[in-house]
Amino acid sequence: MPNVVIVGMQWGDEGKGKIVDLICPAFDAVARYQGGHNAGHTVRFGEHHFSLRLIPSGILHQGTECVLGNGMVVSPEAFLGERQELRDAGVDDAGRLHLSNRATVLLPPHVALDRAREQARGAAAIGTTSRGIGPAYESKAGRYGLRLADLAADDLEERLEELLGVVRPQLHSLGSDVEPEEVDAAALAERCRAWGEALSGHLADTEQLLNGWLRAGHSVLFEGAQGTLLDIDHGTYPYVTSSSSTAGGAATGSGVPPTAIDGVIGILKAYTTRVGGGPFTTELEDETGRFLRKRGNEFGTVTGRPRRCGWLDLVAARYAQMLNGVTGIALTKLDVLDDLDEIKVCTAYRVGGETVTDLPADRAALDTAEPVYETLPGWGTSTVGTLSFEELPPAARDYVRYIEERLGAPAVWISTGPRREETIARRDLPAYGRLMAR
Ligand code: GDP
Ligand code: IMO
Ligand code: MG
Repeated sequence: MPNVVIVGMQWGDEGKGKIVDLICPAFDAVARYQGGHNAGHTVRFGEHHFSLRLIPSGILHQGTECVLGNGMVVSPEAFLGERQELRDAGVDDAGRLHLSNRATVLLPPHVALDRAREQARGAAAIGTTSRGIGPAYESKAGRYGLRLADLAADDLEERLEELLGVVRPQLHSLGSDVEPEEVDAAALAERCRAWGEALSGHLADTEQLLNGWLRAGHSVLFEGAQGTLLDIDHGTYPYVTSSSSTAGGAATGSGVPPTAIDGVIGILKAYTTRVGGGPFTTELEDETGRFLRKRGNEFGTVTGRPRRCGWLDLVAARYAQMLNGVTGIALTKLDVLDDLDEIKVCTAYRVGGETVTDLPADRAALDTAEPVYETLPGWGTSTVGTLSFEELPPAARDYVRYIEERLGAPAVWISTGPRREETIARRDLPAYGRLMAR
């Protein structure tokens, strides 16, 4: 039974939630392995519209086990709020929503610090989701963080005091107007104990759970959040998130061995978007950019911010292909390009008078890179809801083939609308059988 990682090949919001929801009936479990409630994964089917932030998108399928892995940063408040929203919508999570004991706790002081830092950065702000993600991962790496299992620890207050001892002076020097009780260890300990109790039914050694399922021959889908270019190591640093969002993160962030992973599905939007600051070589600040934003409804799921839009960047996508070892692509939002006369694709960058085809590591190079484009013809007819590859207009098929050739991986799924139903699944491709458990 294959175990498969789903990973964003760009700067996030590629449509991961839609694809996870679509294919998860073929798997026994879905596990998130990094990030926190900075993610916003949209799932639509029929008249339903869900926006998942912390909880795996598999939760919408009764019978699918869901895991929040050790590599995540979990805000108990956000988790309980999201669980309630889902319950209110009739989703039954009984006995199938598991939280890693070893996941890092994201607390209100982390949020305060994220906000204060961003404010202090001014024009150089990262443009974070202001959810406290960076400071929470810092606590983890700095070894003064709390894990979910610690919410019930006898020395909880001392541990919080240690954490606050690091965070408080920083807030102070940044001139933060944080409420005193948010940085008071005793007050925070009281809230933590209540959260610990509320979460206790979900807490588990999820590494044991996952590996037990693997031994029993069950299959697991790993749901990545963010995207390759937002990865803390491989992304456009420092304009990145603070976790390992590439496929490699699935092993460390869930506790399954890398050898258990059989395939990687790369989610690639037919054009590019980015939220927040940082280099974006193919960005369009013109009529076409505004068209993509409007037609693609490119507004943040978490923060409502307008997403920056631009042409497909194959320099970045090839890099993502290499880092993740993508065995099958899900190409999303092809329909958004329906009305364009021509479509540009960036195949290289011009940096300091030279043509480069590999993503530069250097910050100044990324900031000044100029895109080299190839222009492809548009198709001028609607692809929305097309159910087979053959029914796509010829120029749309050519666009798909062009991407497949340049990236060296088959487009196993082609998405032509936000709904579950609006997807071409190319079951005839060998990669489909290798990626799908049933
Ligand atoms: P994620 O973070 O990768 O899960 O992506 P988001 O949910 O943040 O953003 C993707 C957006 O595009 C959502 O609003 C989806 O409903 C929508 N979407 C996904 N696939 C398609 C598609 O093929 N066509 C169109 N028009 N919208 C899509
Ligand atoms: P999904 O899973 C798009 C971006 C933020 C910011 C940077 C750092 O829905 O694809 P953070 O709050 O993580 O410290 O912000 O990363 N970012 C995302 N952009 N989609 C996401 O998630 C993102 N999660 C974080 O906009 O630029
Ligand atoms: Mg999103």
